[in-house]
Formats: sequence, C-alpha cells, structure tokens
Amino acid sequence: MTNPKDRAAKLRDLINNYRYNYHVLNKSIMSEAAADSLKHELTQIETENPELITPDSPTQRVAGRPLPGFSQIKHSSRMLSLNDVFDEAELGAWVKRITKLLPSDTKLEYFMDLKMDGLAAALIYEDGILKQAVTRGDGFVGEDVTANVRTIESVPLRLRESSHHADFLEGRTEVRGEIVMYKKDFQALNKQRQVVSLPTFANPRNLAAGTIRQLDPQLVAARPLQFHAYDVMREHPEEVPTNKFAYEALRSLGLVANSVATSAHSVKEILNFARTWEKKRQKLPFNTDGLVVKINDRVIYDQLGVVGKAPRGAVAFKYPAEQATTKVKDIFVSIGRTGAATPVAMLEPVVVAGSTVQMATLHNEGEISRKDIRVGDSVIVQKAGDVIPEVVRPLKELRDGTEKTFEMPKNCPECATKLIKAKETEAIWRCPNNSCPSRAWKTIQHFASKAALDIEGLGEKNVIALIKANLVKDPAELYNLNKDDVLKLERFAEISAGKLVNAIKAKKQPDLARFIYGLGIRHVGVQTAIDLAATFKSLNKLSNSTIDELSRVEGIGEVVAESVVEWFSRPSNQKLLAKFEKNGVKPQKSHEVSGPLLGLSFVITGNIDSMSREQAADKIRELGGTFQSSVGKGTSYLVVGENVGSNKLDKARKLGTKLIDEKELMRMLDKA
Ligand code: IVH
Repeated sequence: MTNPKDRAAKLRDLINNYRYNYHVLNKSIMSEAAADSLKHELTQIETENPELITPDSPTQRVAGRPLPGFSQIKHSSRMLSLNDVFDEAELGAWVKRITKLLPSDTKLEYFMDLKMDGLAAALIYEDGILKQAVTRGDGFVGEDVTANVRTIESVPLRLRESSHHADFLEGRTEVRGEIVMYKKDFQALNKQRQVVSLPTFANPRNLAAGTIRQLDPQLVAARPLQFHAYDVMREHPEEVPTNKFAYEALRSLGLVANSVATSAHSVKEILNFARTWEKKRQKLPFNTDGLVVKINDRVIYDQLGVVGKAPRGAVAFKYPAEQATTKVKDIFVSIGRTGAATPVAMLEPVVVAGSTVQMATLHNEGEISRKDIRVGDSVIVQKAGDVIPEVVRPLKELRDGTEKTFEMPKNCPECATKLIKAKETEAIWRCPNNSCPSRAWKTIQHFASKAALDIEGLGEKNVIALIKANLVKDPAELYNLNKDDVLKLERFAEISAGKLVNAIKAKKQPDLARFIYGLGIRHVGVQTAIDLAATFKSLNKLSNSTIDELSRVEGIGEVVAESVVEWFSRPSNQKLLAKFEKNGVKPQKSHEVSGPLLGLSFVITGNIDSMSREQAADKIRELGGTFQSSVGKGTSYLVVGENVGSNKLDKARKLGTKLIDEKELMRMLDKA
C-alpha cells in the first residue's frame, strides 16, 4: 500500500497536468468526471492528513487567467459559476437554504434550462449593434474575441427590431450565453483532421474553446460554432423582471435560447424535467451534463446574493458522472453460457452514473494487454447507458511498483478443462466442457427465462443451488427433479418445492419456437427461433437440416445457418436432446400462425408510447406478422417512433421500405 504522502503527491501532479492540458492547451488527457474523481480522492487524503496540504494543490486553486494574445476586457459584472447539486436531497437542501433567507410568504418559482457544455461568452450591444464579445476568462476579466464571434451565424450583428422589447435597442444590452459546437459538426471536423493526419480534438467543448481562441477569424468562420443565450442584462435591472421574460426577450431580439427551457413550481417538477432530459440528452445536438435551475424572479435572485463564486439563487443539477476512478482489486475469469472465458475486473466499489460498480468487463486477454491493465492499478471506469461497466484505461502515473500483470489461465477456473480457441485468430478463449458448472447454470437460467420456457422459480440463486447439490447438470435434468430432491435444499420448504416441480412439469410440452430459443444456440434469437419452428415444424427435422435448407429460410443468413448445423452436429447436444425425450419433453409444433398480418414484417425504430416494444412484438406475432430487429429486404414496414436514430431510417429509405408512424401501427393492430 502506498503511503498517503506519496499518493497525494502523485495525485497532485496528475491533476495539475490534466488542468494545464485542459485549460491552457485545450487538450483533454482524461474526462472531467475522471479528474473530479481523482480530486475527490486527494481531498479525502488531505482532510485526513491536513499536514499534507500544499499551496499548489489543485484543491486550493482558483480559476485560471486569460491567455495573452487577445486584449483583456473587464466584465460589467462578474461572470459567476454555479454550485453543483447531484441528487434530490441536495436539490431539496438548496431550496430549504434559500427559503430560509426569504420572507416566509415567498412563493418560489424556478426557471430551468439545459446546462450546455461549451464556453461562456458575453455579447455587448450598443443601440442594438454588436460592439464586443468577451470570453468568461477568470470571471472578472475576459478576452476580446469579437472578430471571431462575429463569424458565428447564430449571433445577430444587429438586434432584431421587436415591438415588445424596443427599449433593448437603445443603450447597452448585454447578452450572455454558451458557445457550443454541435456533436455532428465535431464528428465531421475530427474526421477531416484524421484524413490529413492532424491530431483530433477530445470533445466538442475543447474544439469550440480552441476555435474561439484562434487568432485568425477566417479559420474560425470555417468551423461551425453556435451561440445559445441564457441571460440578458440592461442597465436598469427592472427591465428584465424574470428569467422567463429574459428568454422571451432574447428570442424576439433574434438570439437562440433553448426552446425547452421552462418554469417549475416544485422540486418534483424540477426532477421530472431532469429525468426527461437525462434520458433524451443523447438526441440533443450539443452535449449537456445537467440542468441550470434559477429562481425565476430576478429581484429575489439578486437579493439572495453571491457566496464565493456562485449566486445563491441558482444551481447546476448535474447528472451522475458516467466515469470515475477506482482500483482493480483482482481479475478473475467468468465462463459464459457458450463457454466464452471473459476476464472481469473486481473493483473497489465506486459510484458511476448513480449506481455502485464493483465489477467491469475486460472483454478478453488481448484487450488487457493492449490497455496494460494490472491488478492493483488505479483505473478509469465508465458506464454508458445500460451497458456493462468497462475499464477505460489504467492511470499508469499512479503506479507504485506493486501492480501485477494478469495472465490468462490455461484451464477453466470452474471445471479445470483446458481452455481452447476455435481459431488461432480468435480473441476469445472458451471452455469446451458442456457440463462445466458455470456454463450449466447460465444455460439452465436461459432455458427457464421468460422469453424461453418461462419457468417460474428458476432464478439465478435457485439454479446455482440445484447445481451445487448435484441435482441437475443441464436443462433436460430439470424434468427429473422431484419434490423430495428439492426439499433437501435449504432454500426450499414444502410449498415452494412443490411449486417449482409443478412449474417445470407444466412445461413438458413447450412451444417448439420457445424450446429452440431456450437451447441457447449461438445467433438464434427469439424471432429466428420462431422462423425455424415455422419452417421445420419439428425438432427432428431441424436437427437434420442442412446449411442449404436453413439458408433458404427468410431472415436466416449463413452465420446463423452454420451455427445451427454446428450445434446439432455435436454429440453432447444430441445426448441432451435424447435426455429431453427420455424425460418426456415433447416440444409442440407452434400452431399454424395465421391472421390478418400474415406475410407482413415490422421493425420499430425510436420510442413508441402506446405499449412497450415487447408488447408490440407479441401483438404483431399473435396476428400472424413477423417482428424483426433490423431493416432488411423483406421488411414490410418501418414504424417510426419518437427520437429516432438515423441508421434504420437510412436503410429503409435505401430499400424503399414503407414508413409508418405509431398511430398507423396501432390502427393496424386494432383493426386486425
Ligand atoms: S445560467 C451564474 N444557463 O454553466 C451563472 N449557464 O457553472 C448562471 N452554462 O459558466 C449562468 N448552460 O457558461 C446558465 N443554460 C445555462 C447554461 C449555463 C451552460 C454554463 C455557463 C456558466 C456555467 C456555470
């Protein structure tokens, strides 16, 4: 274990290095969330050991200075920062704090907007004409970037005449807002740079910041920047009574202000807004990491004053970080249903995007050596959406020499069988033993899962208990279980044991398609299983089918065909099927589907409101139709929901697939 003094010194160097790269060079050596996480660790060490605090520690720093090269301009009023709150409790505490400071009968109204990830700028208009544009700088003094900002199309060079806000065209009007680069423009620019071997930018914010500080405005004009306003100030503050009014004035003066910005009357309404946009934020043109919540009434807002660098009357409600730093305690190998041996990092528990992460996939041996991840390393972990957390990279700067490199075991950690690779070029090692206990429990769990045989009472823990007690080795043996066997297990009592055995017995004549899916053949998902069942009509026929026959089935390609033939050719699988038969399991040919949607196939893209995607799929199948996950030549309809990505749409347009909306789909399902 490194001593706190050395650890603190290493952390300080790394964070300072990050800050220099980020603020001065506009280069990002790690994400902000990862740097925050390191800073958090340093603060903790310094709190426990105050004698270790040094004057140059990043925990003691105030914001950076403007760069030389642009002339410096003093702001008319300080450009403040915001304090962050991360959850409902902290948001509630903020409301409580300010409520206490105000007369008891004050009815608070809030105004909320997306917090854009760009850089702040102030635009100064004199008699409606753009005179100056200034970066935030250190909040007091910024840089004169007028020539560059003039190239931004969304910045009006003259405020629009507006009958409502005619006063704003006289005298001084200051507009504040965020300069951002849209994600699509960022990607396009980085691609161009890659082609000519120029270094790429880490994120849109850095690219926007790098651009606005270019000394050559022509170069700036070639890079699409946007300005989204969030504040307007007049010499007489009473001209802008509320923040809602400010946004309306901004729009009528010809500026862009986010149209989603809106007022709220309670913490609950703020949280609802936050949740909605947290889910939808990937679809926004710019990056956002939370909301800005302000007191709507600007008199109250001003009365509340400033603490440190932030106004009391506003907070940033931040979404949970999707990256954090932690330590790798150990690396072990997990064996999946198909035998794939996946190295997994055991981590010191850390909160990422709102949930605690203790394990992260390392994918395969090659990935570990490419990233050089060692046991004992401090690492950056990340979680994006619903995917399994992963290790982004180790922080090699924090190594103390005790870290150990990982070696892939030669044998299965569960059953000691020698691990093999199907081909030399494959990245993944596999346990070839079909009755490996780890493979067995995942296979049985899959067989019993909702989309397969849907056997109640066979969750992870019960399956492991049955395997450990040597009562089952594969799904076929489930049908041998009797109540007395199950009762021997600690987890079961008279009633629960009886229930489980009956639930299994009830599935002795399962639907053929579900049974095929339940076998867990690689590449055979729910729809493929349905297609196979409909074509071959019995397990025996499917088992004897050739690659040729399989490939002729609509929706089945070569990969699936090969995988099916391979599965049935393995003696161990033939034995399994024989065991099912011996135990009286007779999959039933799915009843001939017929119905008004016979011959029609559907793909859904984006969100639909009326029912879940699974419910829609079930309903379509019930009516004789086919539900597919991707658009192909045979697809009859692409149902276009809300917030659609472009992939499926593009493909549908190319193939001439008919597009319908949710309403039309519901009409077809209802009418049928
Ligand atoms: S209102 C006192 N609204 O966030 C500052 N700021 O941490 C109140 N930001 O430097 C600013 N989106 O550049 C406001 N919709 C928004 C914003 C926003 C991004 C930035 C702003 C400021 C930082 C505050």
